[in-house]
Amino acid sequence: MSTTNKGLEGVVMGQTMISQVAGDAGQLIYGGYHIEDLAGNATFEEVCHLLWYGELPDEADLDALRTRFVQGMSVDDRILDVIRSTAKSSHPMAALRTAVSALSATDPDAEDKSHDANDRKAVRLTAQTITLTAAIARIRGGGDPIAPRADLSLAANLLYMMRGEVPDDLAERIIDAALTLHAEHGMNASTFSARVAASTLADMHSAVTAAIGTLKGPLHGGANEQVMHMLLKIDRPEEAAQYVRDALGRGEKIMGFGHRVYRTLDPRAPILKTLAEELLGRGGETRWLETSSVIQTTMREEMDRRGKKIYPNVDFFSASVYYTLGVPIDLFTNVFACARMAGWTAHVIEQMKDNRLIRPKAEYVGPKDRTVTPIAQRVSGAGHG
Ligand code: ACO
Repeated sequence: MSTTNKGLEGVVMGQTMISQVAGDAGQLIYGGYHIEDLAGNATFEEVCHLLWYGELPDEADLDALRTRFVQGMSVDDRILDVIRSTAKSSHPMAALRTAVSALSATDPDAEDKSHDANDRKAVRLTAQTITLTAAIARIRGGGDPIAPRADLSLAANLLYMMRGEVPDDLAERIIDAALTLHAEHGMNASTFSARVAASTLADMHSAVTAAIGTLKGPLHGGANEQVMHMLLKIDRPEEAAQYVRDALGRGEKIMGFGHRVYRTLDPRAPILKTLAEELLGRGGETRWLETSSVIQTTMREEMDRRGKKIYPNVDFFSASVYYTLGVPIDLFTNVFACARMAGWTAHVIEQMKDNRLIRPKAEYVGPKDRTVTPIAQRVSGAGHG
């Protein structure tokens, strides 16, 4: 007998060698390496190599990958025109979704689903998503897109193309670590979307476009934007506890808390908190961390009282880090997408290596055994909406 599992909770849909999310232990491991180790000791480019090829690169491997990123980072003027015509009138994630989809029109491998073509597209898509995100920010701000620089890392290029100035070492290191922390996360909703699309043998651009649309939602990647709106709404840290209690009293969720898999602290959250503290060390705004600390304490008390295990997730601290680094709030989820493109493409490659169509079932609970009444005799206005 088949069972119904709302939200597919606890369902294992397949095997992966890309990452392990150990929810009870609060561990995130990419290809055997703990996230704390990677965020402190490897660059985002090295992590991309690990996700795509299963190993950290040596110096020659890394040089070769960097060259491929540089070659792949430019986007065609036709795609910039797509952004020019959408970026101001749509959400930046919608603009990114449209632009990434349009990229297939300029990609020489667009319809080639061979392993080698997928490998080339993974590198290009990861680099281009950074260029597109920065271009969306520039155009929304009334400026012109800035071309990537060959001498900068992906993290530095993201900030450079977005803000128009080369970031200092601390800002680059923090964005680089944030990209690593967000690059991959097992069978999360957007990665699942990408794998479902890939399992139909649709092309990689289709799969990652589906993933971007899925990441956009506030229950997934869109939460970081909502966290910052919450922090801005709370005028002073002293008001945070009441804000949380009032919101919970209205039955609302507190953004940046809770996770389907982690039943303890999301291991990425304390790393981001440390990065946020480093930013404070050079004169950043203390309000965000103070307010975050009160929200965290109040949530712990309130959730304990309700017997629920709800802890901060990755988005809780990434929000104030991005804000302090000058990333526009409505671009926060796009920065997440820049990182996760590495994970999505790794999963598309893995899916296509050993593919079987992903096609679950649904339990039908609607009306049964009805017969069609001629249209002139039907009563209008009925339906389940
Ligand atoms: N604030 C208050 N209560 C919460 C929160 C929260 N953030 N998250 C979960 N709960 C409560 C729910 O109301 C529910 O209570 P109930 O059993 O009394 O109805 C219980 O905890 C279980 O929550 P579900 O929503 O059923 O858990 P699920 O696994 O389906 O959802 C999710 C996980 C979507 C992340 C949820 O915790 C949430 O909405 N969080 C806020 C949004 C967020 O921060 N998303 C980012 C997740 S991380 C990422 O995608 C990068």
